[in-house]
Formats: sequence, C-alpha cells, structure tokens
Amino acid sequence: MTLSLSPAKLVLLAVHFAVQADIDSLAVLAARHDTVLRKELLLRILLTYLPETLQSNKYVGFLESLEKGTLAENASHDVDASSVETLAEGDATKRVRRLRLLPLASKDTPKEVGDDPITSFLVRRSYKVDEEAGLLAELPTLLLPFMDQSPYVRTLLISTILPLLRRNCEYHPEDPIQYTLSAFQDLPDRVAVNLLLSQTGAREEDLPVVGRDLRGLIGPWLVDEKKWKTRRRSIAPPNGEGDDGICAGYDEVLRWLTTQASKNWKVAISAIQQWGGPGDADLAGWGKLELTEQQQDHVQRAYAQAALASAYVLPEASSEAIEGAYNIVAQVVNLRDLEPLPPFSSAVTLLPPLAEQISEDIISTKTATFMRNDLLASSNILTVPDNSAVAFLEALILSAHLLTQAGHPCTIRRAGELALLQDERDQKEQATKLINHLSHNGPKTDDKFWMRARNEILWLRDWGAEEVSLDATPKGVFSKLKKEFLEVEVLKALLSNTRYSLARSLYEDAPDRPLDEKALQDTVYATAMMAYDNASNPNRTRGGLKKCDEIMKAFPETLPKSHPLAQKVEALLQATHALSEYRLVLKQGEPFTPIVLRVHSDPVSIIGKILEQNPKSYTRLQDFVDLGNRLVQAGLVKPSTFSHHSPSSLSHPPEQVSQRITAMCIDAALTEEDFETAYSYVVTRLESAAGVQDDYSWRVALQAGKHRRTAKTVKPTHYGTSSANPEIRHLEQRIECLSVALRVAPGGTLQEILNVYRRAEEELEVLVRREEEREEEWDWRGDSIGAGAGNNMPGGFIHHGGGGGGGGGGGVREEEAPMSLFDLARATGLTAPRNLSALSGLQRAAGGALGGLGRGVVGGLSGGTGTGNGGSSERGSLDSARSNEVVSPTGGSHDGDAGGNGQQQRARKRDQLKNAAMGTLVSGVGWLVGAPGPAGGGGGGGGGNGRE
Ligand SMILES: *[C@@H]1O[C@H](CO)[C@@H](O)[C@H](O)[C@H]1NC(C)=O
Ligand SMILES: *[C@@H]1O[C@H](CO)[C@@H](O)[C@H](O)[C@H]1NC(C)=O
Ligand SMILES: *[C@@H]1O[C@H](CO)[C@@H](O)[C@H](O)[C@H]1NC(C)=O
Ligand SMILES: *[C@@H]1O[C@H](CO)[C@@H](O)[C@H](O)[C@H]1NC(C)=O
Repeated sequence: MTLSLSPAKLVLLAVHFAVQADIDSLAVLAARHDTVLRKELLLRILLTYLPETLQSNKYVGFLESLEKGTLAENASHDVDASSVETLAEGDATKRVRRLRLLPLASKDTPKEVGDDPITSFLVRRSYKVDEEAGLLAELPTLLLPFMDQSPYVRTLLISTILPLLRRNCEYHPEDPIQYTLSAFQDLPDRVAVNLLLSQTGAREEDLPVVGRDLRGLIGPWLVDEKKWKTRRRSIAPPNGEGDDGICAGYDEVLRWLTTQASKNWKVAISAIQQWGGPGDADLAGWGKLELTEQQQDHVQRAYAQAALASAYVLPEASSEAIEGAYNIVAQVVNLRDLEPLPPFSSAVTLLPPLAEQISEDIISTKTATFMRNDLLASSNILTVPDNSAVAFLEALILSAHLLTQAGHPCTIRRAGELALLQDERDQKEQATKLINHLSHNGPKTDDKFWMRARNEILWLRDWGAEEVSLDATPKGVFSKLKKEFLEVEVLKALLSNTRYSLARSLYEDAPDRPLDEKALQDTVYATAMMAYDNASNPNRTRGGLKKCDEIMKAFPETLPKSHPLAQKVEALLQATHALSEYRLVLKQGEPFTPIVLRVHSDPVSIIGKILEQNPKSYTRLQDFVDLGNRLVQAGLVKPSTFSHHSPSSLSHPPEQVSQRITAMCIDAALTEEDFETAYSYVVTRLESAAGVQDDYSWRVALQAGKHRRTAKTVKPTHYGTSSANPEIRHLEQRIECLSVALRVAPGGTLQEILNVYRRAEEELEVLVRREEEREEEWDWRGDSIGAGAGNNMPGGFIHHGGGGGGGGGGGVREEEAPMSLFDLARATGLTAPRNLSALSGLQRAAGGALGGLGRGVVGGLSGGTGTGNGGSSERGSLDSARSNEVVSPTGGSHDGDAGGNGQQQRARKRDQLKNAAMGTLVSGVGWLVGAPGPAGGGGGGGGGNGRE
C-alpha cells in the first residue's frame, strides 16, 4: 500500500515512529520515501527523537541498512499513518519547523570525527546514550558494525568505551569513574590512567586480577594513535634525555607502577608478574595495538626498567616482599631475554657467584642516588635492564633475604646502600647485629645451621667472588669488612653456642686456617670473658663460669693450659669460685655476680665486704691472701691512679695485695673484738712485711695497738706463758703491736705511733706497779703465814719478783736509765745529725708526749743543747714495765723457770725487752736517720755522746 503523504507529514510520521521506537515502520517508511527521508535527515531524527534507553540491537540493523543504502521495502508491513493523516498541511509544515532537529555534530564532537554523517551520528548518539540513559553497555552493539568503516569509531570503542565500560561495569562496578564518556575522553592522559587504575589492587582479593586490569584497561586505552604523539621519533635518544615522551599515558602507567611499589608493593609485584607490558592487551578481539618493532622494544624495555625500579623502592623488608622482588627480576629476565635466574628457593641455598657479573661501574657511591632518583631514566645504571643490573639486583635481593631471615629486616635499598656507600662503620654495625642475632637465637645443637650461617655471612661480603681476586675490594654488603673480622665474629657465635667441636674443626683442624693463631687466641679469650661476664653464679662448675672454662679449653693446641691467657683465666675462675663460698651482697640486696669482680676498680675491696658479711671469716686469712694472689694473677689488680685514704681502698701496687688483705683480716678481727687473733696476725704476719713499705701494715698494727679491751673482747683460749693478768697481757700485746707498727711504718707516721706507744707504756707502768704491790702484799702475807714464795700466786703467775721488788725496781731504774725510747732515739739520732729535719715529727712527739725523755732526745738530736742523760734520768719506766714479760705471741721465749732469783730474772727479762725495743726503734726509727741496725745502736749512742 502506498501512502501519498506530503513531505512534511512524512517527516512528522518518521519522527512519530522514532519517538515510538517503531524502527520497523520507520524503515518501511524510509524505504518507500527515500527521496524525502534521506539518510542525514533520518539520522538527525533518530538522534533527536529515538529514546536513548532503547537497546542498540533494536536499531543498529536499521542504521547499517541506512548506511549501506539497502533499506528494503516490505509490502506486507502496514504503515500506520493515522497520526498525521488528518493534519492540515499548514499545521504539518508548522510542526516540522518546530521539530528542532539536532545537528549531527555538536560542540562536543572531536574534530577528528570529520564530516562523515554516520560517524558524527554515532559519536553524538554514544554521548547521549551515556549521558542521558547511562547505558554505556549499549554502545559496543551500536558501534561495532561501523568499526571498519570509521577509524574514529573504532578508536572510540576500543580505547575509550571499552576501558571505561570494563572499569565501571565489569571490574569495579562498586566504585565507577564519575565522568561521562565525553568528559573522560577529554581528560589529560595522566588523569585518565590514574582513574582507570584507581581501584586496581585496592583490595587484597583484587591482587590476583591486577594483571587483568592492566591488560583489560590499559591495554585497550593505549590503542589510540593520538596518545602516541611522538611516534615519529621511534627510538629513544641515546643520552636518555627526554626519552620518556613516546607515550605520556604509558609513562604514567610506569609511574603508577613504581608508585605502587613504594606504597602498595603487593600491587606492583602482582602487576609485574601478571602483566607482560603494553603488548599484553585484551582488546576484546576488536583490534590490536600496532607499534613498530622499535617502539615495541622501547616500551618493553621501559616496562622492564620500571619493574627493576619497583624492586628498589619496595619499602618492606619482609620475606614476601623480598621474594616478590626476586620474581620481578625473574620477569625482567624473561621479558628481556637475559641470562636466566634459578628459582628463588635454590638461589638462597646456592648463593650463586654474582660478583663477576656485576659491572665495576655499578659499585660506586655515586650510584647510590640512582636508587632514589631518576629511576626510570635510561641513564640509570641500576634499572636499565641488562645482565649487570640484574645480577646486582639479584645480589641485593639475596642479601636482603639473608639479613631479613636472620632477624635483621633489610630492604633491598638498604642492602644497596650497604653495598654502594661502602661505609665501613655501617657495614660493621650491620654485620655485628646480624651475627649477634644469630648467636642469641640460633639453634644450640644444629651444626649444619651454623655452617650455613657462616657461609652466608662470608657470601654477604663478596657475593661469591673467586678467591683469586684477593686484592680487589670485594663487592658485597660487607665489602669493607675484613674476612678475618667476620670469621672472628662467627667464631664467637659458635663458642657462645657451645659449638666447640665445630669451631675446632673449622678454625684449628682445617688445613687452611681462616684465622691466625693470635687472632684465634684473642677471640677465644674474648668469648670466654663474655661468658664470664654473663654469669650470675660465681661457682665455676655452673652456668657462665663453666662455659668460660669450656671455651678456654676448646682449642687445646692453640691455647694450651700453659699459655699465659689460659693461666690468667684459670686464676680468675679460681678467685671467683673462691668467692662462691661466702655470703656476698654488694649493692642493696643484689647478690654478687662475677662480672662485678672483673670490672671493679678495686676488686680487693670485695674481700673487705666478705669479711664484713661473714662473721669469723677473718680466720681464713690464708685463703684470702691466696684469693688476692689469684686476683693479681688474673690481672685484676691494677695500681689505680687516684688515692683516697680510706683503710680498705688505698691505691697500691699489686705486690701489696697480701699486706692489704692481711690488714683487712686484722681489722675485721678487731671489729669482731677478737683481739687475740688480730694480735697474732700482727706479730706473725706483718713482721715479715718489714722492709717493703706499704700503707696497710703499719696502720693496722697501730690500730691493733690502740685497741681497748671491752667486755665483749674474746678471751684468749689459753694464756700460754704470758701474764695472767688480762689487762697487763692486753697492754703488753698492744705494745708489741705498736713495736711492729714502728718497724713497718714510714718516717712521717712515727710521731703518731710513738704517742700511742707512750701512753700504752704509761698505762702498763701503772698496771705493773699495782701488780707488784699486790705481789708484795702476797709475798708479805705469804711470809707472815710462813709459807714459801710465789707458789700461791693466783692464775699460775710465776715469780715475778722476789722480795724488795718495788725498791729493786727503783734501783734498777736508777741503774739502767736512760733506757728505751730515749736511749734509742738519741743513739740513732745522734749518728745522723745531717738528717735532723726528717725527724722534726719525732722531735715534736718527743717534746710533747715523751716529756723529759723526749726532750733529752730532742736535745741530742737538735744540736746538743741538752745533755743526753739529763732528761732520761727522770724516767725509766719503759724497760721496767717491759721487764715483766718477754713479748712472745708464740709463747716460745718466756723465761719462766728462773727460780727464786727475782732480781736476776727481772734483769734478764729487762734486757731482752730492751733488746726487743732497741730492735724496734733502730729498725723503725733508725732507718729514717741512717743509723745502723740494733747491733751498732750502742755504738751510735756513744758516738752521739762523743759528738756532744
Ligand atoms: C514484513 O512485514 C511483516 C509485518 O510487519 C513482517 O511480519 C515481516 O517479517 C516483514 N518482512 C521482512 C522481510 O522484513
Ligand atoms: C647469658 O646468660 C643467660 C642466663 O643467665 C643465658 O640464657 C644466655 O644464653 C647467656 N648468654 C651468653 C651470650 O652466654
Ligand atoms: C658449686 O656447684 C657444684 C655443682 O652445682 C656444687 O656441687 C658445689 O657445692 C658448688 N660449690 C659451692 C662452693 O657452692
Ligand atoms: C735523710 O732522710 C731521708 C728520708 O727521710 C733519706 O731518704 C735520706 O737518704 C737521708 N739523708 C741522709 C744524708 O742520710
């Protein structure tokens, strides 16, 4: 049926069918009236009135026919013209004028579209479908049939619609790009790339499809000749400047990749593993990226470079990141067809020799900046993908792995800094930390572990360089460290972990010893000391001390028992062990630990603490002296540079340790009121010290000499042959102590001792006189009773004086004066007038405390202003007092069987005592003034007189 409608009504009818989306009717109408409803008019009608929501498949066939001019008549199709039939022609014309049909090209239409009507229509229709219906997904159906005919449509479809569609509808529909198709097309390349990839790998579960995103979004997106602006310049300039201009969008992809590596490294690693570069594109079968061979090479190389760069910026030092980096390198090797890598797991076990493959140019301080800057520049020697750069990175990755595995997380860049900056201190710190960590955390029993650890540490130094290249600085993260240093540290770790036999087999038995004898000895010693210092118990059969002992014995050839170091440590162990027998707390509540002994500025003073904290321990004097000698042998007693005068911490040379310890024991005995023991030590122990000046002996002898009895004073267990009167006995013993003090004291101290001596004498004199009076009373009583002489004396005190003791005493005094101090001092003093000034102390002492006696001395000494005898006649008490005993701590020389001849006996005793005192003073004072010994004392005295 043929309608005869005016052109205006035909147009209105066509619009009507378009609005109704009645494509069949429109097609029939168009076929029947092709002179009125021409292609461009129809396209404008469709553009303006066809609903955007209409599925593309409903009208794309019509478009195709229209484009091809093959619209077919369908005689059997009824065209319903009722909507326009009744219209007046004038109305129809008016309405047509008001149709406002859109032009095919709009201001948004890119100029590349040209003036092809169907292309213009498709572009504008696509925008409208997207903007007004949001039906991006309908566009491929609409556009696909026209791809071959219109390159623009093809590019639009593949490079823009396909990525956008995938991004928004398929890959990440939950977070679509909020740009219209047209706006997106207008975005700068950098922005577009980052939008496309903004969700890539954003969630953990997306990691396996990171490659899909690159392949499916970036792959198609790059298929746009317009983006490859500099296509004409097909090869990068050799100097590397400006070579990142082939495709700004692609460069942005590479930047995105390295940014991910530094921020979300897992994304970068997934990307590189899953994506093969721009050639690896999913274009939905709609086309392919056409690049020249050179371009292809350039983009692949740039991709490989970005991959290597990514490894350098990985911020994390986890096993996963490090292994990922290794896989990156493997991918680069694959992409660039370089020398193949072993799988990661074998690489870390084999530790391949990499040093020779790494170019010398790489190992330089300057190169280090390439790990941070210009990562993608073709001048970057570290990232430009060749065998040398790959070997270097592989070495860094394995190094970082070893360090990280061993508990010292190390990024690849950090490993790179160690290797490139070659800062010895830094390397040393790292190596030490590493080995310490192994030492503290390594298995205690697994020798294989330790052998592997050693190999790894040595590999870290030279990355498997041939031994022959010895003089060249090795390439490695510990390159600046001497091999010996590392061996020493490893040995320490082995010993600390009780791997003695392994250590011996590596360092003593091996034909090619890694360490020379001295280094081995020093290391063993140092490690033994570490074990010692770590010990908490001073018992040498336990803990740290036991270990110290074992370590010292681990190398019987290198460090035999007779070696000075071995002996030194043995002395230390013995000394420490000896301490374990005592209670010992040094600081508030803290029990003693061995290290204290070793670091103590004055280890001998610890014995003082033991004496304080262990009652009666002073009786083990010899043990302590032995202990002191051990401390000396162990090298712990050093003459200190400072000297503060408290009794237990004077500075002293090592030879005086015994004297000092003896003094401490005496002091302790006195403190515990055990005067008898103190006294016996003074007379037996200090005597032998005479001749060697020390500051302890005389002080403690003086201290004993000052000691006063109290109720608490320990009673002597037996009186032996000495006076049974405890007061007298005590005074006698004190005087004996003072004699010792005089003998061993230095000149400047004599005054003080003499003062004490003098007072003790006076006391003794009083006591003796009182005793004598009592004796006389006894005698008298005995006489009056008619019994025999002294047999009735209490306490077995035998025969001190016969009859007339008091008067006799006086007679003796007359007879034998001057005596004692006066006598001796004068005698010795006068022999050496030239040295009077040295005796000024004595002079004062004599003038004061010694009274007339002293003055006599002074007179004699100071130039003969007095007569030697004058003063002394005043007093004669000293010898008289002393005559009551023969000082005999050992009880040997008491002359107790003198029978009844008291006078005679007394005189003998007096002589003996006098001799003793002579000895005391001549050796004590005489040395000072250059006098001869006791034998010549009398002569000296004579000389003195003569001179006067
Ligand atoms: C012609 O139109 C009729 C009725 O609309 C339809 O059934 C038929 O399929 C059409 N034929 C062709 C070749 O389009
Ligand atoms: C130090 O001593 C502790 C226990 O006291 C021990 O666990 C540790 O292994 C020792 N360290 C060394 C280096 O000997
Ligand atoms: C030291 O330790 C051993 C073994 O543990 C023990 O038999 C010994 O009594 C200890 N010695 C001292 C002095 O504590
Ligand atoms: C004088 O005494 C000092 C000790 O005080 C001594 O060293 C010196 O040798 C003496 N001089 C003479 C001449 O005897």
